[in-house]
Amino acid sequence: MKKILELIAEEVAGAFEKAGYDSSCARVTLSNRPDLCEYQCNGALAAAKTYRKAPVLIAGDCVKALAGSRMFAKAEAAAPGFINLDLDPAWLAGYLKEMRQAAKYGLEEAKEPETIIIDYGGPNVAKPLHVGHLRPAIIGESIKRIGKYMGHHAIGDVHLGDWGLQIGLIITELKRRQPNLPYFDEHYRGEYPKEPPFTIGELEELYPAASAYSKEDPAYREEALLATHQLQQGNRGYRALWQHILNVSIPDIKRNYDDLNVSFELWKKESDVDPYIPRMVEDMKEKGVAYLDDGALIVDVKEETDAKEIPPCIVLKSDGSALYATTDIATILEREKLYRPDQIIYVADKRQELHFTQVFRCCKKAGIADERTKLRFVGFGTMNGRDGKPFKTRDGGVMQLKTMISNINEEMYRKITENHEVAEEEARETARIVGLSALKYGDLSNQASKDYIFDLDRFTSFEGNTGPYILYTIVRIKSILSRYGETGSEASEELLPASGASEKSLMLALTQFSQAVETAYEENAPHKICAFIYDLANAFNRFYHENRILGETDPKKQASWIALLRLTKGILETCIDLLGFEAPERM
Ligand code: ARG
Repeated sequence: MKKILELIAEEVAGAFEKAGYDSSCARVTLSNRPDLCEYQCNGALAAAKTYRKAPVLIAGDCVKALAGSRMFAKAEAAAPGFINLDLDPAWLAGYLKEMRQAAKYGLEEAKEPETIIIDYGGPNVAKPLHVGHLRPAIIGESIKRIGKYMGHHAIGDVHLGDWGLQIGLIITELKRRQPNLPYFDEHYRGEYPKEPPFTIGELEELYPAASAYSKEDPAYREEALLATHQLQQGNRGYRALWQHILNVSIPDIKRNYDDLNVSFELWKKESDVDPYIPRMVEDMKEKGVAYLDDGALIVDVKEETDAKEIPPCIVLKSDGSALYATTDIATILEREKLYRPDQIIYVADKRQELHFTQVFRCCKKAGIADERTKLRFVGFGTMNGRDGKPFKTRDGGVMQLKTMISNINEEMYRKITENHEVAEEEARETARIVGLSALKYGDLSNQASKDYIFDLDRFTSFEGNTGPYILYTIVRIKSILSRYGETGSEASEELLPASGASEKSLMLALTQFSQAVETAYEENAPHKICAFIYDLANAFNRFYHENRILGETDPKKQASWIALLRLTKGILETCIDLLGFEAPERM
């Protein structure tokens, strides 16, 4: 289905042509003065130069040419040359009727579906998820859902960090505590125990302890580095321990993501691409792309048009070991090989932009990424506390994700039970659903690249631009629909033309759906969907306050309103699903 703006633009272009002007002048936009009109065309102003004629005369000619149009209730020329447009209510109702009947409310899916890999996890095994993992998970999940809805083959990859120093640290600490385990006995040839030598709780405690020791004691750090190296070289006992770490840690990480309603199609790990590295590096050398500089193997990636200096990408350190960039390059190699993606999107902290610029350029230069593969970086800003500094726990530490989620749920529970009696179990479940909307919407309603302030009070409020407000609106609609259903009346397929201003505003808001989703997709910008549903929820609530829907005595009018409510509910629910949360039945 064509977007409403396209239809309007075509109609106005036809009028320009009919009046003897070039139709390309007829650009239409949503009005920036909603008090004056709904849509506007400033084309006459642009055409004035070409035709050496006063713009207001051109606008007048076009308005005359629009005289017979069924699309507009009002088309007026206004000084100095605007064309102000209001839609005809019957035409608008017709457009909405089509939206109701079309699949996906008339959204046009991609004509050529792409394979898109989205890399938005990046947690390290053996470390609990913390608030730093929140933004990529929330934003990436939404980008993936929007891509799928647009008809693309979108694949999320968690890309676990399982191959770095953190594993060496855990091995070192475990060895210090339990030196007699067979994993540390070089002469041991038997099978290793099936049971891991730690629980998830113990594992999560091992890492911070080891990390603290390594900062105090250089010898300890050396040992951890050596253990990491030996693990990567294939030390049997260390590999067995590493496998235990994965087995214990991954289910826990999955549960954490489940709590966020975030899931990944692929559970790839950094270690998976390790086997590609030697060949890949040789290849880069043979092609003359990589060369030795002070012992390290580097690739020049600067370009003439760079505004600032882009340093070379280091592929191997002088001791021959791989770095963060090496793994990311090898991952692109593997993805090309296994999935032939059209796009790979990375959702990571915006401070990693240079890293990704280097990696992307290096892959293009070395022919690792296909020329056609779009490599895109979506950098997000920092989540700050109310003091404007990066979000921390009260004692200055990093807050675990679990803690954060339970704090929100607690606050939500308090709000839900504050004014009325709800059964404990239902209140807890509702708090969980609404709490997640508070957390996700609080994040997604900001442009990703901006920093934002995590404000528990504001995010959990039922008023203002918040997740709970959106859910409250949906629940309100659900409740009206169910009470209407109890009367046994049938909602009609018929949508009557709007009879009042707030009803028309609601209808106009609904028509923006496809545009909002498309823009959010093209710009990797879920906040565009938030802005759309906030406007829509406001339009609905205004309509609701001005009309007594269930008390309406004209059954035709009432049935039409019910149809409008169903459409509003369907679109709001679709949108929150694209953002990665859902609405409860009651709240
Ligand atoms: N594990 C990384 C970190 O903690 C983030 C991973 C981002 N994704 C990637 N493919 N490099 O900084």
